[in-house]
Amino acid sequence: MNQSALRIRNVVKSFDGIKALKGLSLNFNKGEIIGLVGSNGAGKSTLLNVVWGAYAPDSGELHINGQQVDKITPTKAQELGISIIFQHRRLMPYMTVAENIFIDNMPKLRGMVDYKKNALRCQRAAEDAQPRYRLQQ
Ligand SMILES: Nc1ncnc2c1ncn2[C@@H]1O[C@H](COP(=O)(O)OP(=O)(O)O)[C@@H](O)[C@H]1O
Ligand SMILES: [Mg+2]
Repeated sequence: MNQSALRIRNVVKSFDGIKALKGLSLNFNKGEIIGLVGSNGAGKSTLLNVVWGAYAPDSGELHINGQQVDKITPTKAQELGISIIFQHRRLMPYMTVAENIFIDNMPKLRGMVDYKKNALRCQRAAEDAQPRYRLQQ
């Protein structure tokens, strides 16, 4: 049976009177890979920004794993398993790869950032994704 991972119901989002999303409803089932195609200005980025909690919709509902989520925020979205990969990434060139990857969630040791643990975590994530990558610390 298909299980809904993300259900979007009647979502409206306007910017200064311009309706970017005009009551959009979509369902994504678990295990599905969906491509969203639309011309420039169609509202794709706005939709993703609503789903990962960057924009509050004017109205409508989000249901994640069957539960309605009120007032979604990026932190809440992440806790519920939603990740976003941006079209235009901004890296911090003065920081390491590990710091760039986990900047929002650095491990701490006695109140201080644990850089060593973070580097190891990053290395493990890279090896899981592609075993032949070995990151230099
Ligand atoms: N931050 C914003 N402020 C004002 N208008 C916006 C903003 N973001 C998007 N829009 C407008 O909303 C509409 C949808 O844009 P967008 O979601 O970026 O489309 P797409 O990603 O499909 O190209 C466009 O008319 C765009 O100009
Ligand atoms: Mg876009």
